[in-house]
Amino acid sequence: MLSRHITDRLRTERTPFYLYDMDLLRRTLESARAASSKHGYKVHYALKANFDPVIVGCIRGYGFGSDCVSGNEVRYSIESGFDPREVAYAGVGKTDEEIEYAIRQGIFAFNCESRQELQVINGIARRLGKVADVAFRLNPDVDPLTHKGVSTGQADSKFGISYKEIDEIAAEAGTLNNIRVTGIHFHIGSQITELRVFEYLCRRANTLFAYFASRGFDLTHINLGGGLGIDYMTPEANPVPDFETYFGIFARHLEIPRNVEVHFELGRSLVGQCGEFISRVQFTKTNAVGKHIALLDGSMTEFIRPALYQAYHSVENLDGAGRPEEEFTIGGNVCESTDTFAKGARLPELRRGDLVSFKSAGAYGASMASRYNMHDLPRAVHYHGENVRG
Ligand code: LLP
Repeated sequence: MLSRHITDRLRTERTPFYLYDMDLLRRTLESARAASSKHGYKVHYALKANFDPVIVGCIRGYGFGSDCVSGNEVRYSIESGFDPREVAYAGVGKTDEEIEYAIRQGIFAFNCESRQELQVINGIARRLGKVADVAFRLNPDVDPLTHKGVSTGQADSKFGISYKEIDEIAAEAGTLNNIRVTGIHFHIGSQITELRVFEYLCRRANTLFAYFASRGFDLTHINLGGGLGIDYMTPEANPVPDFETYFGIFARHLEIPRNVEVHFELGRSLVGQCGEFISRVQFTKTNAVGKHIALLDGSMTEFIRPALYQAYHSVENLDGAGRPEEEFTIGGNVCESTDTFAKGARLPELRRGDLVSFKSAGAYGASMASRYNMHDLPRAVHYHGENVRG
């Protein structure tokens, strides 16, 4: 439950908006930092999960690096104070302009996705008279046992360098004078809750690391990507993900030389639980088959996960205290049938004017908002030093 005094204050805010519990974010970051630093691991924050400046500033303060997927994210990281040497840059379709900008900044590594990309980075670096640090993003063909829309490490996907091409890319890299291959990189998917998947990833990573070492590459880092899932079903029982177990799996199963740095790119697990999407009931009605419908002033425009992935987000009627429970279909205000947040949700009767909260919306919520139907982008409200969920 959101505490009463916070709910009362939220009533005057213009809806819809994202509410961030900054204390929960800090607790999460502390836990991730403690669990990773125990093994000497380096964590980059995957900016795509949420680029709200207050959140990014807080994360940077914990000493994490950044993980980017566009030139704008690289620029934003650097302008937000991240050291370029802590910026990793992935992305399947980097443009020449983005590559040039990142080379000029001297970033930590391009996570390079193909032979052609490697040649292009080399060519641009040569023109600039520089040497670019590159990690090969390898496709390890591991099933992450997650939603197919967020699986990125299987053989038939568009991501990474295929195992069929590694001999060629290894041979070619040796002929390119303006790149330095410093590492190998993997990212197999997101919202991974079957943690044994990361054991399989370690096994593949060990084999591939040994392969590149045998080909004479002096790799100084390995990057295992992100993907740790969060508890969408019962977020209040598990507000902070189990980083201890997650990093422990890598500590047990990775077999690489001690002097090789181990990097991660976490997004969802760092920011997912600290945010909620808050919208107001605009109208209620009952349809011809007797279903209660509540229509909100927010939509898939501001919060697309339920429409795009049929994602479940725990929902709460912030004004429902003392009312009987009913089943509701909760729809957004956009003219698309997928713009439905929940079907058959049981919660205290929804009435016009009630505030509704969708929890676990801190990751891939605000950052995926669009301006569909010419809506304004959703605002953010941050709470510091208060017991938001009391
Ligand atoms: N590294 C790379 C190269 C990635 O592509 C991603 C996420 C991450 C790290 C961070 O993964 P995380 O720790 O957040 O799982 N919009 C989707 C999620 C897309 C994830 C894309 N890549 C959603 O709302 O579920």
